[in-house]
Amino acid sequence: MAAGNLKIQVLESADAVAAAASKVIVEAIKAKPRFVLGLATGSTPEKTYAKMAEANKAKQVSFAKVTTFNLDEYWGLDGDHDQSYRYFMNDRLFNHIDIRPWNTNVLNGMATSPLIECAAYEQKIFACGGVDLWLLGIGNNGHVAFNEPGSAVDSRTRLVSLTQSTINANSDGRFFSDPKDVPRCALSAGIGTIREARKIILLATGAGKADAVKAAVEGPFSPDCPASLLQDHLDCTFYLDKAAAAKLS
Ligand code: F6R
Repeated sequence: MAAGNLKIQVLESADAVAAAASKVIVEAIKAKPRFVLGLATGSTPEKTYAKMAEANKAKQVSFAKVTTFNLDEYWGLDGDHDQSYRYFMNDRLFNHIDIRPWNTNVLNGMATSPLIECAAYEQKIFACGGVDLWLLGIGNNGHVAFNEPGSAVDSRTRLVSLTQSTINANSDGRFFSDPKDVPRCALSAGIGTIREARKIILLATGAGKADAVKAAVEGPFSPDCPASLLQDHLDCTFYLDKAAAAKLS
């Protein structure tokens, strides 16, 4: 199925989504070992990361020459805070594969200057030749990374405020246990930053994502649903389980 340029793959289950995403990433790295891989945090990609680690363990792929860039980091959290995205990535993926730690890039939530941190991040992506493939999730409100509704199509890496719906979604017991503990701001790659990736794969699983997926795929190209701003990307595929795809016509 295709919507605009978007390609849509509807799969039986969240496991099938993870298997498909992992396969795309593994095959791409096999074809280009010096791969530049964009990554996301959150519940959705966890199964994909487990499968990537399995493939590495089975020696089907090596991450030794891969460079990664993560989408975002909470502002004010150190990388060793157990709710930081640096900690999440080490714990869910990097510690389980043969990637070189110095080739993994996560924005520093404790940087002295967010402006300098974000500009340096953009420059480093550029210096690495740009992102070959960026793996994304989608928020219940259609956000990608921490680009909340209203984010511009040409936005770059910057300090952003989280919406109350994102704060609530990230304190539902999966991550923070109390909304009061969730940082109010984050550093986030912009929509413009993400759109420059040569390939994008967005994963969505579960009924809670069905409205956001419908708005992203069938709604207008609009900052009201930041994920809809991927509609004209030349190589973007949404991998959905049946529940996340349920409201697509
Ligand atoms: C995380 C990120 C967020 C998540 C989104 C969905 O790095 O960029 O946009 O992808 O909030 O989160 P989950 O997967 O937890 O539903």
